[in-house]
Amino acid sequence: MIEIKNIDFSYYEREVFKNFSLKLEDGKFYTLLGKNGSGKSTLVKLLLGIVKVKSGEILVDGKNLTDNLYEVRKNIGMVFQNPDEQIVSERIDEELAFSMENYGYSSMEMRERIEEVLQEINLLEKRDLRISQLSGGEKQRLCIGSALMLKPKVLVLDEGTAMLDEKNRENIMELLKRLRDRGVTILLISHHLDELKYVDEVIYLKNGELWQGDRDKFLKEIITGSLGESLELPPNFYIAREIFRRKGIDISKNLFSSEEVAEHLWRLSLKK
Ligand SMILES: Nc1ncnc2c1ncn2[C@@H]1O[C@H](COP(=O)(O)OP(=O)(O)OP(=O)(O)O)[C@@H](O)[C@H]1O
Ligand SMILES: [Mg+2]
Repeated sequence: MIEIKNIDFSYYEREVFKNFSLKLEDGKFYTLLGKNGSGKSTLVKLLLGIVKVKSGEILVDGKNLTDNLYEVRKNIGMVFQNPDEQIVSERIDEELAFSMENYGYSSMEMRERIEEVLQEINLLEKRDLRISQLSGGEKQRLCIGSALMLKPKVLVLDEGTAMLDEKNRENIMELLKRLRDRGVTILLISHHLDELKYVDEVIYLKNGELWQGDRDKFLKEIITGSLGESLELPPNFYIAREIFRRKGIDISKNLFSSEEVAEHLWRLSLKK
């Protein structure tokens, strides 16, 4: 469990967090939403100990983050937006092995783990290709693989799906869900609200304030409440909000399927 307790953080005079608290439970799939500049990447930097809080504390499994940085970093896998900026090798096996080097594993252990991870990220049959021959989606899966090598308890993706098309994003989301089912905590920073389909909980940073709650509650609030005003809504969400505004009908539970939304529109058109 990660507990952020009453932290203050600023970059010089730019205050990003003031008396900010947040709890992440083990084995849940979280998405972290918020406008550009709302502090999402800063939160990740704080969790990795790359920047330090001015006051307050961050506890990982009850232990202070700054006192246990080595252990904490080992337990948090990171994936960034652009795979090409993360990949350091030319070969898939080398790239995966790289994450395990310097941690004192034998080459036997490394080979076994590479095998497991390749299976997990579904790249076994491509392992002999050069990394430059992989597609963007495959490269991103490889980056997730590198992040998984040390069996982290938490996997953080800072816009890790931003550069992918819809099919590849779905593919990655299914992979993240499988990892969640195996007990890995997922923190996905994203701008795509349609990815909410896969997540358990939402953390929404809005003007330095925090909204946190389960996915369905969040959906209900953006469709029927005021929460969505500053978020860019995908078409289905937008239609759902208009249906609520004009007719008072709440379809926030059935947002992800265009068929269901179309069915609602059809029924409403018959009622005219
Ligand atoms: N190294 C830095 N020095 C000074 N200010 C910074 C630095 N890094 C970020 N900031 C500022 O802190 C605020 C939060 O930035 P952060 O990168 O955490 O936002 P974000 O939510 O990740 O945004 P985005 O969606 O654009 O990635 C922004 O106002 C940003 O300009
Ligand atoms: Mg960012």
